Amino acid sequence: MNTECWNPERELITRDKLEALQEKLFLETVQRASRSPFYRKKFEETGISIKDIKSLSDITKLPFTTKQDLRDWYPYGFLTVEKEKLVRLHVSSGTTGQATAVFYTRKDIESWAELMARCMYMTGARPGDVFQNMTGYGLFTGGLGFHYGAEKIGLLTIPSGAGNSKRQIQLMRDFGTNVIHIIPSYALRLMDVLNEMGINPRESLDLRIGYLGAEPYSEEVRQRVQEFYGIKAFNSYGLSEMNGPGVAFECTYQQGMHLWEDAYIMEIVDQHTLEPVPEGTLGELVLTTLSREGMPLIRYRTKDLTRIIPGQCPCGRPHRRIDRIQGRSDDMFIIKGVNIFPVQVEQVLMSIPEVGTNYRIILKKEREIDQMIVQVEVTDKVFVEDMRHLQRLQKKIASELRSELLVTPIVELVEPNALPRSNGKVQRLIDMRCN
Ligand code: COA
Ligand code: AMP
Ligand code: ZN
Repeated sequence: MNTECWNPERELITRDKLEALQEKLFLETVQRASRSPFYRKKFEETGISIKDIKSLSDITKLPFTTKQDLRDWYPYGFLTVEKEKLVRLHVSSGTTGQATAVFYTRKDIESWAELMARCMYMTGARPGDVFQNMTGYGLFTGGLGFHYGAEKIGLLTIPSGAGNSKRQIQLMRDFGTNVIHIIPSYALRLMDVLNEMGINPRESLDLRIGYLGAEPYSEEVRQRVQEFYGIKAFNSYGLSEMNGPGVAFECTYQQGMHLWEDAYIMEIVDQHTLEPVPEGTLGELVLTTLSREGMPLIRYRTKDLTRIIPGQCPCGRPHRRIDRIQGRSDDMFIIKGVNIFPVQVEQVLMSIPEVGTNYRIILKKEREIDQMIVQVEVTDKVFVEDMRHLQRLQKKIASELRSELLVTPIVELVEPNALPRSNGKVQRLIDMRCN
């Protein structure tokens, strides 16, 4: 086998050595985590003495960590180092009640970049390639995560960020972009723009490789994207709590995503009982960090549903593969690459006095653009007011939702009791997109 690797020692490590390494790093991680205010308290409350954690199999003695824990201990409750050692933070969308923050030391940034370099190199990206990174920079991890990995390999990196489709296309043409990172729904949107401009990317662009992730999508979408752009498209999985992208990634065989097991311990558990499921069975992915210095997380419930793909990948990497994410075990949804919890919408709406008690979120696609429509029942008093007042209210709601969610919704005001109720309850979220 001739598998080219960025880090052959780690990527082609034997399974035995990998498990020994995991155990060593796991025990260090537990020690380190116990210094954070959150884990110190958690271990105390649950009667855990780290002396009892002696091997990898003891992981099941440890409690799970949830997004709610991150919210409750926001902003600094998970830190294991002094602030002087931190060089970066990323924050999820949402105002304080819902926000989560993730911190990185210099070493964390370095090991994250190393993981990202592995991912991209594994798919064939090499110095001399031009890489256009079309996801959000700033507080999103997708932009800077890929950026650092690409520069580490030595790709000519264009930090084009999200949006501005015509300029994206111009950059691809001018600089001969051949590697792209793009959110799947945006790849579909960009197809429309290219069609409108009469550009056939197979003839007019030099694209070869695409990284698609940050939201769920189907094999059919991958095929459409590959066909239209003339690229090989690789699934990319990650989450801010685990650095960001670079947790699991497809190799050239495109048969599931290798999860880097020297950096993360993976467990797949039944979403209700939280007991481990047999290999190959769908369940919730639970991750423990092994190389995070500033903010290690133990048994973090990702709420993402997937399964381990049994067997060895033809590429020879022993890091086990996970399947395409099948959904979530909570009610979070993702639109335009942005994560949203319905409760965030509710909190904004309920803080506006003119808004009644009922609302509905409808997600749909219009000309390949994801749309979030928020239908809001207003109070009786408001409904009889003049149009100008209603328009002002509509704008106000849209603007407050945008600043909370980071995407622009279409707000529709409806009269009191206009939204359907079944058994007195409204179905809050209707997702009409098909990915
Ligand atoms: N990625 C990149 N660009 C996107 C996008 C996406 N997922 N979805 C839409 N866009 C483009 C639109 O096509 C539009 O550009 P155009 O008019 O030149 O074609 C532009 O962004 C604004 O679109 P709009 O629908 O008005 O967006 P919005 O105000 O509702 O949201 C975005 C603004 C798209 C910038 C914001 O949703 C975003 O930053 N998304 C990317 C998130 C991300 O990178 N996530 C990765 C997490 S790791
Ligand atoms: P964030 O923390 O903003 O990076 O979002 C992370 C979440 O995005 C994950 O928990 C998943 O729900 C989702 N996600 C990331 N990558 C993928 C992918 N390749 N397929 C499906 N969902 C993904
Ligand atoms: Zn492989």
